[in-house]
Amino acid sequence: MSKHREQQTDSQTGNLFGDLSAGESLTHTESIVFPQDDSLEKILADVKSSHTCGACKPGMPIVFGVGPEHTELMLIGEGPGIDDIKSEMPFQGQAGVLLTKMLAAINVSRSECYICNVIKCVPPGERNFSIEEIEDCRPLLLRQILAVNPRLIIAFGALAAQTLLRSKKTISDLRGSLYTLRLNDREITLAPTFNPAYLLRVAEKKREAWEDLKMVREFLNRASG
Ligand code: URA
Repeated sequence: MSKHREQQTDSQTGNLFGDLSAGESLTHTESIVFPQDDSLEKILADVKSSHTCGACKPGMPIVFGVGPEHTELMLIGEGPGIDDIKSEMPFQGQAGVLLTKMLAAINVSRSECYICNVIKCVPPGERNFSIEEIEDCRPLLLRQILAVNPRLIIAFGALAAQTLLRSKKTISDLRGSLYTLRLNDREITLAPTFNPAYLLRVAEKKREAWEDLKMVREFLNRASG
């Protein structure tokens, strides 16, 4: 995630989704139409063969996602950075190292999570994503969520949290609470927090991220106990 891109999503949060905001609610409800027998494999094939937006074109390197096909915990970042696009894997480089440490601090191993991003590619020149591009990529992300069927999603960064909740609030306002995402027949808990790439630059926010992670741990303990 480039510095430039994340600054845009933080500073323009008031405008990101215009009138699509869900207001102050802790619940976001949405239904989507998706192909029968959908699977991560099918979604990846669609991304590779037919998905086109202002940023992603067929044939471009993409970072689709990694992890078990069905799992309790899904991690959703904003978009890949240069480190990630080289390996076609999310959260590589320093941000990835920090993410692994953050998970380890709450006794979660990275390999038990399905990890992906809202945006699957790096637009030319590493420019910011447009709202149209986010909207074009969003249905793929929602299909990924239905396929993975997590109990809990951690949304890392403003773009991830706002995209999933259809919210205009800043990540600083969204974090610190658990939300409910009602997607078709599923009810998924969503925990927004700061993106590790942002925490690398703004270390004083790590304390708040730690509070969010503790909340995630407590939720997982309750869910498994
Ligand atoms: N790398 C990713 O894959 N996603 C982010 O949001 C940041 C870095």
